[in-house]
Amino acid sequence: MFRIMKYNFDTFLDRKKFSSEKWLKFKDPEVIPMWIADMDFSAPPEILEPLRKRIDQATFGYSTVPESLTHTLVERIDKNGWKIDPDWVTWMPGAVVGLNLSCKTFLQPGDMAMTPSPIYQPFTSAPENMERGMVTTVMKDVNGRLELDFDEIENLMSDDVRMFFFCNPHNPGGTVFSKEEILKLIEICEQHKVLICSDEIHCDVILDAKSHLHLGNVNDYAKDNSITLLGPCKTFNLAGLPIAASIIPNPDIREDFRRNMKGIVSHISTMAFVAAEAAYNDAGPWHKELLEYLRVNKRILSEGINSIDGLCLAGPEAGYLAWIDCRETGLISPGDFMIEQAKVGVHKGEWFGNKDYVRLNFGCPKSLVEESVSRLQKAFSQKN
Ligand SMILES: Cc1ncc(COP(=O)(O)O)c(C=O)c1O
Repeated sequence: MFRIMKYNFDTFLDRKKFSSEKWLKFKDPEVIPMWIADMDFSAPPEILEPLRKRIDQATFGYSTVPESLTHTLVERIDKNGWKIDPDWVTWMPGAVVGLNLSCKTFLQPGDMAMTPSPIYQPFTSAPENMERGMVTTVMKDVNGRLELDFDEIENLMSDDVRMFFFCNPHNPGGTVFSKEEILKLIEICEQHKVLICSDEIHCDVILDAKSHLHLGNVNDYAKDNSITLLGPCKTFNLAGLPIAASIIPNPDIREDFRRNMKGIVSHISTMAFVAAEAAYNDAGPWHKELLEYLRVNKRILSEGINSIDGLCLAGPEAGYLAWIDCRETGLISPGDFMIEQAKVGVHKGEWFGNKDYVRLNFGCPKSLVEESVSRLQKAFSQKN
């Protein structure tokens, strides 16, 4: 049934003049940028208003973490069924900081992380940045759903592997892992005494009926041997106001993690604190409508993509990033073809570890999704 929406997700915002990384990437002005994971929507008015008020206060000195923000997060996670202690929470200027710190905390020189592939690239650069090793486990494409290959994970385990890098919901695949899948992963990690860093930054953008489970809440091993990363930036379009939380129930791991932050991790912006708190407290109605809007975009995109010979899209179960299977196109670089011939600025699959796929961000006005679909249909129909 048609429902009038309170918030406007349809308006095109010209982001080029505000140094948008997304909109300045492609030299060709015809290309519609649909790559990096930020959305082209205005942030919720419930966040903009407190930010304006904070500017009017006119001082921007150092801020301490507002206790009320941590309590808001604790309550939010409680609603997902995980009771966490405020002491377990450490705020950081972004989740990628947490990926790198997890490597530093969990891995000694000579140790390795195991990382699924394909994956959001900072997962593979973090071990390298921290001068630690890495082994990748290739995920299986099961009818368009990216799944962990548990047999391979078992086979790749060795005394050197000390951490598993988990991403749930998965980027780029959009998989929301079931309790059975998470339990299986934990079981293998427990057998091999492997710690787990679980990046759950996309957990509030669930598009289908399934719910997301926090790894740290699944059993005692996971609780005592994990770092969970999450935050409001992906959901509420706040990437330029970076803030994320790590949740570490184990006090020894938490202490190490915090010690590793010292002198390296910068302050969190005052404005990021304001935005995060407003997002969690007041932007629920916007979030609800966002999900409805994204579900429509996802339907338009998947119908369009699946109408093109050689392309296939089944997900995502969460997030606004579509991982499109281009294996049947016969193209050496489907990403280049889409960018150069169709003028659709996808994120090339090689960045995530598989050049036969592309990732397309549909967190934008519906008109841009429709235009991209029609450009792709035209370009592929003319391909010989
Ligand atoms: C899985 C995942 N983790 C982390 C990030 C980046 O988070 P932040 O901007 O908070 O560092 C992204 C951004 O797309 C992501 O997809």
